[in-house]
Amino acid sequence: DKGIYPYYMLKEIEEQPNVIRTLLNEYLDDAKQVTIDDAIIRELKQADRIYIVAAGTSYHASLIGKRMFEKIANRPTQVEIASEFAYDSYIPEANPFFVFLSQSGETADSREVLQMIEAKGFKSLTLTNVPNSTLAREATYALPLLAGPEIAVASTKAYTAQITVLAFLAQAMADNRVSVAHPLAAIAVAMEAILQDKEHYEALAKDYLVDASSAFYIGRANDAELALEAALKLKEISYVHTEGFAAGELKHGTLALIEDNTPVIALITQPKTAELTRSNLAETQARGAHALVIATEQVAHAEDQVILPSVDSADDDAVVVDQLAILLATIPVQLLSYYTSLGRGLDVDRPRNLAKSVTVQ
Ligand code: M6R
Repeated sequence: DKGIYPYYMLKEIEEQPNVIRTLLNEYLDDAKQVTIDDAIIRELKQADRIYIVAAGTSYHASLIGKRMFEKIANRPTQVEIASEFAYDSYIPEANPFFVFLSQSGETADSREVLQMIEAKGFKSLTLTNVPNSTLAREATYALPLLAGPEIAVASTKAYTAQITVLAFLAQAMADNRVSVAHPLAAIAVAMEAILQDKEHYEALAKDYLVDASSAFYIGRANDAELALEAALKLKEISYVHTEGFAAGELKHGTLALIEDNTPVIALITQPKTAELTRSNLAETQARGAHALVIATEQVAHAEDQVILPSVDSADDDAVVVDQLAILLATIPVQLLSYYTSLGRGLDVDRPRNLAKSVTVQ
């Protein structure tokens, strides 16, 4: 039931702070240690390589997962698009472990990969929002995303839930030497503050995107991965042709597409690459781009259009905060998509040509 909301998507966007809190309660004990079944953590730690397999938004969450597995837990990880990997795989390791990420648990492309790796005798874990789904039943292990039913075709809270559970896995693989609890709790609070400001995003959508025919999201490191998700979110419900790009790659060709007034949205949550992304944005502005910056307080400039609260980090969890900071920018990009779709008079929850769960290959 949508309750007071005009669309499920808005309801689901607003549920995200509580999704994080539910997951913190369910996956961590009082000492903030991860309570996931030891057998799963052992498989992940003993694997020569971890493969994360997914499609669409779940693929984009996987890209963040890879960074966390590598940077927080020092585990070599590879992300694969399910529809490609099913028919074109190279798995040289004797003991790989497979993680399937799927909101619905029914995505045919991912099921095809699961069958392929099971035939080779490899083990797997499914993270899904639907506990009795096919991928949950067919994998060796399964963990729930606990986001509650996601009805809108555009996935929002499942993305946040996936990144949160992947962060727990990273902490557990790092033998609980780091803690994701404090940053995640702080992010949930910051998300609530961001959600108080919806009119701002509605106005930005109107100013930058509602009348646009093409748009770009750019960023570096985790912000580049979020740029992919932001672009998918915008194009699938607003039909504005949008690309997500690693900011530094733009000048190697794509810059040719920038014209007067092309919206270019820079995502800046990563201190290490913040200024580099800004100079890439300036290159687009010099070609007439209509530039919008979404930055966290820590790296923001006073004139930025969106300044998000930063999450403070004790020195020892700075790596974790860097990895998770994109969750703050997730709400703005979801809201920009929502209000662009709304402003263009479209059915936000049921975009043309798409189904919630993709059960064909
Ligand atoms: O149920 P899954 O997570 O496996 O679905 C994967 C994609 O079909 C899905 O994320 C799709 O890209 C969404 N419409 C994106 O908003």
